[in-house]
Amino acid sequence: MRASAPGKVILFGEHAVVYGRPALAVPVTHVQADVEVSLSSEPGVWIDAPDIGLHAELNSLPPDSALARTILNLFRALKFDPYPDLHIRISSTIPVASGLGSGAAVSVATLRALSSTLHHPLSDDRVNALAYETEKLHHGTPSGIDNTVITYAQPVYFVTGRPIEKLRVGRPLTIVIGDTGVPAPTKESVATVRALWEADKPTWEGVFDEIGGITRGARDGLESGTSEQLGKLMDQNHVLLQKMTVSSPELDRLVEAARRAGALGAKLSGGGRGGNMIALVDEGRAHSVARALKSAGSPSVIITTIEPSS
Ligand code: MEV
Repeated sequence: MRASAPGKVILFGEHAVVYGRPALAVPVTHVQADVEVSLSSEPGVWIDAPDIGLHAELNSLPPDSALARTILNLFRALKFDPYPDLHIRISSTIPVASGLGSGAAVSVATLRALSSTLHHPLSDDRVNALAYETEKLHHGTPSGIDNTVITYAQPVYFVTGRPIEKLRVGRPLTIVIGDTGVPAPTKESVATVRALWEADKPTWEGVFDEIGGITRGARDGLESGTSEQLGKLMDQNHVLLQKMTVSSPELDRLVEAARRAGALGAKLSGGGRGGNMIALVDEGRAHSVARALKSAGSPSVIITTIEPSS
């Protein structure tokens, strides 16, 4: 059995979402994780992930391995003990530690392929709940937005602990995604923001409130299709992320390059400190903004369109 899951970008509200404020995220189908599972005659649960040079039996993986946690949680949920003999092959075009949700996408695709092979295909809600358990290893204190947008593969307005709200986009929006090429684990930037917040809760609660206001305004803009305003909101959100110390010289350089090339607005996306930034553009400018990002040092650029919801 095979399953795949897309990447994602956060449009607004990263980090503040960990503290109960809303965030907006969309799936990115240009990149994806693919998992193939088959019953095997070889004893054990063998995992092959050639992209990262992994060929290992489940029991030999370290106890803090996110992949091992995902597989073992699924066996427990389905009450498989002893484990069946299996071969699991994982590949992914989503760059690791880049803010595009590679960890969550591998979890979601693994849970789907494995549960189908074991004749217990899981509902989206169960996949999402199990993928969230693994996110705790990736992120420490995750909001759950990555596993949610990737499981349901649709634009979301997300608040931790609330029912998922589908984001209804008024007209097509073109986003250019620029990779800094600098890997940056989300766990570290989330921990940095937590340390800032612990040291001065009133200041950071105020910043999170401002981001919450921007995200709510952006939702209105997305639904009504007013992208000029959305671009300004992206710029404002980036300033607050800089204040949170989660930007980096590479991210700032790409954000500036996108604006100079005519983007309506730009910001880092995801955990920050490296990884990806996004720029909102008029469709006709997408290629010139993409070229500007490459000239400013981005090794890989994706142009994606968010289509109006049906
Ligand atoms: C990571 O994609 C988004 C963060 O807000 C962390 C989270 O929500 O768990 C930085």
